[in-house]
Amino acid sequence: MKIRKAVLPVAGLGTRFLPATKAVPKEMLPVVDKPLIQYAVEEALAAGVSQVILVNSRDKGALEDHFDRAPELEEHLRSRKKYDLLQLVLDTTPEQLSVASTRQINPMGLGHAVWCARDLVGDEPFAVILPDDLVRGDTPVLQQMTQCFETLQCSMVAVEEVPACDTNKYGIIDPAHEQDGLVLAKGLVEKPDPALAPSRLALIGRYILTPGIFDLLGGQSRGAGGEIQLTDAMARLLEKESVYGFRFQGVRYDCGHKAGFQLANLALALERDDLRPQMLPFLKQQLARWS
Ligand code: G1P
Repeated sequence: MKIRKAVLPVAGLGTRFLPATKAVPKEMLPVVDKPLIQYAVEEALAAGVSQVILVNSRDKGALEDHFDRAPELEEHLRSRKKYDLLQLVLDTTPEQLSVASTRQINPMGLGHAVWCARDLVGDEPFAVILPDDLVRGDTPVLQQMTQCFETLQCSMVAVEEVPACDTNKYGIIDPAHEQDGLVLAKGLVEKPDPALAPSRLALIGRYILTPGIFDLLGGQSRGAGGEIQLTDAMARLLEKESVYGFRFQGVRYDCGHKAGFQLANLALALERDDLRPQMLPFLKQQLARWS
């Protein structure tokens, strides 16, 4: 089976970025000139996904509007012959993309957010993308995973090693064995204390899940932080099916935190020929000043 649908949990309040996120959804914050959510949707498309399911909340309608046509803006740009800008706007609504949206009425955690998408996903394997985790690689990370899924046909989650002191910020995999970058899990724990963590391999916000996860999420009790955790339901899925950690190629920026968000802006701006010439001399100057 192929992955056709991707669930994007976007109901969070984004309090780490206040006051910027008072009236603007966190996922609309731009990395260089594109909102975080668009990176996630483009990654889904590159991986062959055609339906994106936003699990949204009230007052975040801008996320849906971003993937709708904007006739007045388009006409304005067309009449002024600003065709490059017009193309950027049209690129947000590619023909092969359909965007559905549902609401997480109560913020009860990531597992609950994914469960809210159950009717829109139906009985097929699907992807989950957490837009906060921005990953840059030669091949987009979800595409790396869907390619692997075509032969493996099992649930998997992107993993990367984190410092031992940071295990309490992530889901952590308990590895049984590893071959060619695929880590067979024998357990999964959400945000374990460093002293209790089974490894330093952290779950990153890209998942491919079999639909059996929905029943487990439906009956899942609250875990770390008093929330319904996707990690806990995946740990129970392990009793029935194999679940793998997928070591991806690429660099991950944690755009859920200020430092990671700034690093992403810096790195992606430096990738750009139109921005690098202005940035490099400035950065050198700043390095001399601060180091
Ligand atoms: C969520 C997941 C966690 C995962 C992390 C990746 O945590 O619950 O297992 O490691 O995303 O970004 P959150 O960052 O929402 O606290």
